[in-house]
Amino acid sequence: MSNENRKYKIKIEFHIILITEGRQTNYFMDRPIKHKVYVTRKIPEPGPSILKNRFQLKMNPRVDVLKSENLIQNVRGAYALMCMLGDKIDSSVMDAAGPNLKVISCYSVGYDHVDIDEAVKRKIIVTNTPNVLANTTADLTFSLILAAARNLIKADRHVRTGDWKFGWTPDLFLGYDVHGSTLGIIGLGEIGTLVAKRARGFDMKVIYHSKTRNRDIESELDITYVSLEELLERSDFVSIHVSLNKDSFHMIDKSKIKLMKKTAFLINTSRGKVINERDLISALKNNIIAGAGLDVYDNEPISRSNGLTQLPQTVLLPHIGSATFMTRSKMAEVAANNIVNFFHKRGIVYKIN
Ligand code: GLV
Ligand code: GLV
Repeated sequence: MSNENRKYKIKIEFHIILITEGRQTNYFMDRPIKHKVYVTRKIPEPGPSILKNRFQLKMNPRVDVLKSENLIQNVRGAYALMCMLGDKIDSSVMDAAGPNLKVISCYSVGYDHVDIDEAVKRKIIVTNTPNVLANTTADLTFSLILAAARNLIKADRHVRTGDWKFGWTPDLFLGYDVHGSTLGIIGLGEIGTLVAKRARGFDMKVIYHSKTRNRDIESELDITYVSLEELLERSDFVSIHVSLNKDSFHMIDKSKIKLMKKTAFLINTSRGKVINERDLISALKNNIIAGAGLDVYDNEPISRSNGLTQLPQTVLLPHIGSATFMTRSKMAEVAANNIVNFFHKRGIVYKIN
């Protein structure tokens, strides 16, 4: 070892203890001892790189949901926890993490899987990834509208399985027009607004119901605020864009579905529990409405025995609203930066509590 290096080595091993904000922080020269960040499932770059720079990153290398005992084991001592849909983040997980836990960063826009009241009690901040996934989810919403109305999935299967026998046929897979129809948007948040914007390109009439009226968006996009009941009665496509909470739980049940037109479709890319799924299955069986396009369910994943899978008039997707390469990577960046920026007390932190 050269003298130069030896000097350097001695220098970096000089260990000091600082007292900051009443807490003892151990410093290794000017480099803080790295706090642990636990990520419950593998996320794409640049998420891991951003976190590795600043923290001791522990990431589950798998993509399936952790068993709760494994989550509890792995989260111990973490300063931040990055979690995703399917992880249940409740008091037992927060207890297991212990008093170091300061941030719960959701790799999602929805946060109904986190017990926010418990987080507030413990002064843990919870963050999400708004903005970056709204356009992608609005695209998928439109895919569901088109797929349900025009029988896309059934027609594709018909071709693949060799059932297409007669070429062009006057009555093959007749569906419903999307253009010129009425779209009812429930929940005019960022995703609902972007769905309304897309609907203009299809010359749809757009009506909406939301807990707050937004007159600026109404005039900008030429959309009309109506009551939930009127929306259900008038729409050819009803598309749900509310977050799941006490007020929206089972907001669409038997009595609401009954108000819809027989030729109408129910589209849901928000949360499954906004719809009473049993009531929807029963309504579809009895042809109360024409069909449903769903990306989300009461309990995910659904099994083959779920009644929705037995019905020909449903299009069923496995919760892929935000699933594009670009968007998942942006979500990873935002979710990681929420932790880093909170730690450094600078930059944007998308807090929800
Ligand atoms: C997806 O459903 C999300 O909340 O990001
Ligand atoms: C609820 O989230 C709404 O916007 O109506």
